[in-house]
Amino acid sequence: MTTIDGARRLGSPADPATLDPAERAGTDELRALQLGRLRWTLRHAYDNVPHYRQAFDAAGVHPEDCTELADLARFPTTGKADLRDNYPFGMFAVPQAEVRRVHASSGTTGRPTVVGYTERDIDTWATVMARSIRAAGGRAGDTVHNAYGYGLFTGGLGAHYGAEKLGCTVIPVSGGMTPRQVQLIQDFRPRVIMVTPSYMLTVIDEFDKQGIDPRSSSLEIGIFGAEPWTEEMRREMEQRLDIQAVDIYGLSEVLGPGVAQECVETKDGLHVWEDHFYPEVIDPDTGDVLPEGEQGELVLTSLTKEAMPVIRYRTRDLTRLLPGTARPGMRRMEKITGRTDDMIILRGVNLFPTQIEEIVLRTPGLSPHFALELTTRGRLDHLTVRIEARPDCPAERRDPAGQEVRQAVRDTVGISVDVLVVDPETLARSMGKLQRLADLRNRA
Ligand code: DLL
Repeated sequence: MTTIDGARRLGSPADPATLDPAERAGTDELRALQLGRLRWTLRHAYDNVPHYRQAFDAAGVHPEDCTELADLARFPTTGKADLRDNYPFGMFAVPQAEVRRVHASSGTTGRPTVVGYTERDIDTWATVMARSIRAAGGRAGDTVHNAYGYGLFTGGLGAHYGAEKLGCTVIPVSGGMTPRQVQLIQDFRPRVIMVTPSYMLTVIDEFDKQGIDPRSSSLEIGIFGAEPWTEEMRREMEQRLDIQAVDIYGLSEVLGPGVAQECVETKDGLHVWEDHFYPEVIDPDTGDVLPEGEQGELVLTSLTKEAMPVIRYRTRDLTRLLPGTARPGMRRMEKITGRTDDMIILRGVNLFPTQIEEIVLRTPGLSPHFALELTTRGRLDHLTVRIEARPDCPAERRDPAGQEVRQAVRDTVGISVDVLVVDPETLARSMGKLQRLADLRNRA
């Protein structure tokens, strides 16, 4: 949704009277709240989770050593391996009878990571999710089509409880059965859709296939997250669906969706809900805390979680912290570029799939559907980018479009890749989180 001069069209802010008190608080007030909550969390983790007691003792720190927020940097970080080592419930800080729900990450390799919630945690989660939907432009009375997956994944139930708490009507569709997604949108006329951006594209294509103009749908707002997506993808979805597209961030280890949310009136990165989460950005190699504005790995500490407090959780997500805008007291995190583990190191050069996404979407004739394949030829690694042509792309445009991508990757990233423009509808479609990269390198 852009105006004629290319400027981004922004949405209307929520009525200030409807915001939570923390959303209106100034920085000093929030910092004082955070310090009290942080001290409680450190003590709660130390007293009730053997892992934290051992880790703090080994680092020579004690919860009482935290007298100001900056002291948090002296405490050890927590990683996914710590959660796996304490599988399934070893990181829980409350007796089992107080755990109302568990979720788990899919765990493509080895054990899944398990997370738990008390009744109060579930209420906190619903509160921050309701706040996120409101920041995205959703209002009480709206109908919300929820196509995030239900089940152990936190997306479906997280969005569901938040939308209900805000006072919306939820359609709990979950992912998959794409033709039915279109039918339900047409028949139930939701104003808001919550879904991964890659599955949104699949649904938009389905509208086209059924001969329905997606711009004619009732949807006005899309709340997209669970995977990285670029400004170019925002433009694509806003134009094809005639909606406001905003970013939502979260991770199961820290809560689920609703850790940070982009406000529709600014669309300038995601406000971290700092009354419940304390963000730091560190240098992923040295672990040093970086000053505001510098890019590094996001590290999050929960401030109110009872069942499973997390201290300095290393998210592996790369971003930078910026001052608040639409919620001036709370810092923003820039849209995520990628994860440290999604970074492709090709002949010594670092590359993120989002960089390819930006280039593909800027190239006329090419669709947003692309897949990356890493192979070994001789002693060298090669990256092949397969991109679907748009259905209306003339045959003679395909080769030049592929050449343009190849050249743009060389100019911006500094490496040569193979680019193949393939027929529409030939690459695998996402039903949830999209796996763009196949690593077929021979590691011998
Ligand atoms: O993906 C929670 C979620 C559900 C967030 C629905 C937003 C919407 P996990 O499955 O634990 O939880 O995966 C968390 O997904 O560390 C990021 O790498 C990635 N991620 C989540 N949101 C975004 C986003 C959910 N907005 C992991 N932009 C995180 C980029 C995201 N990456």
